[in-house]
Amino acid sequence: MLRRILLGMSRSHQIKKAVSSLPVSSGIVARFVAGETAPEAVLATEKLVSNGLNVTLDHLGEDVTDLAAATATADAYLELLKQLSDAGLTKNAEVSVKPSAVGQALPGDGEKIALEHARTICLAARNAGTTVTLDMEDHTTTDSTLGILRELRQDFPETGAVLQAYLRRTESDCVDLAYAGSRVRLCKGAYKEPESVAFQDKRAVDKAYVRAMKVLMNGAGYPMIASHDPRLIAIAASLADRAGRRPGSYEYQMLFGIRPEEQLRLASHGHTVRVYIPYGEDWYGYLVRRLAERPANLQFFARSLISK
Ligand code: FDA
Repeated sequence: MLRRILLGMSRSHQIKKAVSSLPVSSGIVARFVAGETAPEAVLATEKLVSNGLNVTLDHLGEDVTDLAAATATADAYLELLKQLSDAGLTKNAEVSVKPSAVGQALPGDGEKIALEHARTICLAARNAGTTVTLDMEDHTTTDSTLGILRELRQDFPETGAVLQAYLRRTESDCVDLAYAGSRVRLCKGAYKEPESVAFQDKRAVDKAYVRAMKVLMNGAGYPMIASHDPRLIAIAASLADRAGRRPGSYEYQMLFGIRPEEQLRLASHGHTVRVYIPYGEDWYGYLVRRLAERPANLQFFARSLISK
């Protein structure tokens, strides 16, 4: 119930206006967001990479409603890739892009505009020696995002996909995407979705996650297990083992600021671990989704607001 209220808040413009006046350096925001600028994001990347971790960076922002903002987001990724390259980090750091941040939701040609922006970012990433993963947003965008992915993969087969275990369609999408060379991030899913398209119960989502993992681990692609859930991480290891996969033929992914000790522990056992680093000024929607996952964090959030 609380999760649904919080996820509803993530789309409220009034609450967003009030909360966004918090400085990014305030406790709860700084825990989940690496900063507002590319240099801050590069600094956070340097720290994680020096500890044996890999990174994927997300320039925060979503649902842009004008072309200028979509173009500005694409430009921000080009600048970020340049800075990562200058810092010698592109062997260990890639970028994650939300289609809605580069124009998908624009009326008329939105999908085409997002594809062109994504293509430009993929080309810059390839020239810098790294890759792009397309984030997945709410279910109304799934077909469109998978369509953009298919187009991108014709020229950039290294582009990563994201599938959300809570969606009823995902097991079948995993079958379609479990082919050689296909990088697929599997997450539980972070949006408020109707029962008609998504499992609502936590146990049902976890079971769906395991079914999807089985398909990916037994397939020919490169599974990216994006979860902090200790049970699912243990199951991933045994499924990988049974499928004859060695560390390096799949990876674990976690969010910046969540279970950092576990990130290091997995890396110290020879696993590839990638941390998703969000940065930028538009951190509100991202932060509220993290609070919805763990209402215990609300207490820290309330304290940040009071001490503002
Ligand atoms: P779950 O939420 O059940 O948490 C399991 C355990 O992890 C908790 O018991 C707690 O110990 C810890 N934990 C989890 N969240 C925490 C928090 N906020 N604070 C503190 N501890 C916490 N979603 C999406 O819809 N589209 C996308 O493109 C992506 N991309 C993405 C990339 C990466 C790298 C990750 C890790 C996640 C995503 N997600 C996502 C988010 C994902 O769908 C999901 O919402 C979160 O990962 C939380 O789900 P868990 O699997 O961690 O399980």
